[in-house]
Amino acid sequence: MTKDVKTRWYKDAVFYQIYPRSFCDSNGDGIGDIQGIISKLDYLKDLGITAVWLSPCYKSPNDDNGYDISNYRDIMDEFGTLDDWKQMIDGMHQRGIKLVMDLVVNHTSDEHEWFKQSRSSKDNPYRDYYIWRPGRGKNGKKPPNNWTSRFSGSAWEYDETTNEFYLHLFSKKQPDLNWDNPKVRQEVADICNYWFELGVDGFRCDVITYISKTEGLPDGKFNPIICGDEKFVIGPHYHEYMHELNQRAFSKYDSMTVGEGQGITVSNAESIVAEDREELDCIFTFEHQEADAFMTVIPKKFNLKKWKSIFSSWQALPDNCWNSLFIENHDYPRSLPRYGKLEYRKYVAKMLAICINFMKGTPYIYQGQEIGMTNIAGFKPKDYVDIVSKNIYKIAKFFPPLIPVVVWALQKRARDHARVPMQWNAQENAGFTTGTPWMMVNPNYKKINVEESLADEDSILNFYKKINKLRLGNKIIKEGGYTELMHDNKKLFVYTRELDDKKYLVVCNYSSKCATFKIPDEFKELKSNLVISNYPSTPTVLQNTKVLPYEAFVYELTK
Ligand code: GLC
Ligand code: CA
Repeated sequence: MTKDVKTRWYKDAVFYQIYPRSFCDSNGDGIGDIQGIISKLDYLKDLGITAVWLSPCYKSPNDDNGYDISNYRDIMDEFGTLDDWKQMIDGMHQRGIKLVMDLVVNHTSDEHEWFKQSRSSKDNPYRDYYIWRPGRGKNGKKPPNNWTSRFSGSAWEYDETTNEFYLHLFSKKQPDLNWDNPKVRQEVADICNYWFELGVDGFRCDVITYISKTEGLPDGKFNPIICGDEKFVIGPHYHEYMHELNQRAFSKYDSMTVGEGQGITVSNAESIVAEDREELDCIFTFEHQEADAFMTVIPKKFNLKKWKSIFSSWQALPDNCWNSLFIENHDYPRSLPRYGKLEYRKYVAKMLAICINFMKGTPYIYQGQEIGMTNIAGFKPKDYVDIVSKNIYKIAKFFPPLIPVVVWALQKRARDHARVPMQWNAQENAGFTTGTPWMMVNPNYKKINVEESLADEDSILNFYKKINKLRLGNKIIKEGGYTELMHDNKKLFVYTRELDDKKYLVVCNYSSKCATFKIPDEFKELKSNLVISNYPSTPTVLQNTKVLPYEAFVYELTK
């Protein structure tokens, strides 16, 4: 296949992200697996999604739940076998669902054969697959530079065998690959082509903006928590390496690639995803995830204006770029209660679904989002299983006065919230497993679960189904222009989408109080028709109105 036949199918897709460890356990060992996924393919089809992003399912010692890969060409034992995987992808394709796999190639596991070889001696042929440097200081025991790991502490680990340090921007069991080595780049292309030949439709590229490090690995600007970013985020050879990988792998198939966009802002986005660059097709921005946080883990009050400005600025990307629309994934707490009060759970979840899904771009639903799964109330230190939460708590234990602050911050921000088992029904362990689940189940599963949602006509799940249907083949949503209105309003997020002589007017109340909506003069003469709303009382034609708590509605406006 040549690039000319790249159909860019992802522009019409609705994605669902599966975090396999927590999705569905088929054999009672407490860990989600591929047969579990297979058993839910009809559920996914019925939800109306058309593509899956599957978090890593490769062989891994699970220091970071599969984001530390020890063999890129095989399936994690706990998840099943390559034959199970083949059965899964066939089952997806038969149902018209594409499969996008996670590509984690900034680093490997330290248990990958390449690293075992690399660490064994300085002249091993795999030595340069990773980034090794002698230490600094009199006895050479000081790390080679001041960069920090995103998971806390120095980004360097001393290794006795060869008396040198290796770089790890994540945990010490996730050594960074040396992309300046042409052999490493060829290996990555080979891995991609291996999976393409097995039928995958694309890749979500993990921390891909970190792959090129500044030559000489100079110290970063001092920062005690996150140091070194400016030396490796979209580093000197980033574009060259991505284009090369695109040519060697991505462009040979009718594929899609979506990069994890750490450090990408709207001002440099075009250089990363513009179609004619032939690098990545799209990225996830994280700018909006900071509307209620500082440096990801420090909670602050949700700032609607910031949220609106960020979405609106991304909606203005030029036509040769494409957006990804998401509010949840496995690295962030649940959107409930981040963006609305739990008493209004159903309204908030549906309001968010409207707000995100009428924008331009490819939407993603993270497992459980479609039933309004929430953060864990009263989340306790003994329940932390994520390496990041555990590391932060460990540090706090050195400064006991910090403990309550850290517990409070993790209650709001821990990645664990998104990783609890999927809530399928009201039976023990939420129907996720018949054994002991690998991590706690959110105690609210008796009320919030798929079975209940399927039975309730008014559920969040059935609302998502409606939206997914509405999106398919909808040209205004896919191609229409975007204009934000009433930016200064402190409760409402209002925007229009416009194509030819049709418009959508989208109004979302982000407040638990009523808001006032006055029809802007320019729309007064237009005919209006309600497309969707999350309250039964929303009038069928547009009028000056009191917008109820977390109410959201969309009207189609025509001459
Ligand atoms: C990405 C993943 C995250 C992982 C990290 C290291 O940010 O989404 O879960 O911990 O990369 O691979
Ligand atoms: Ca299992």
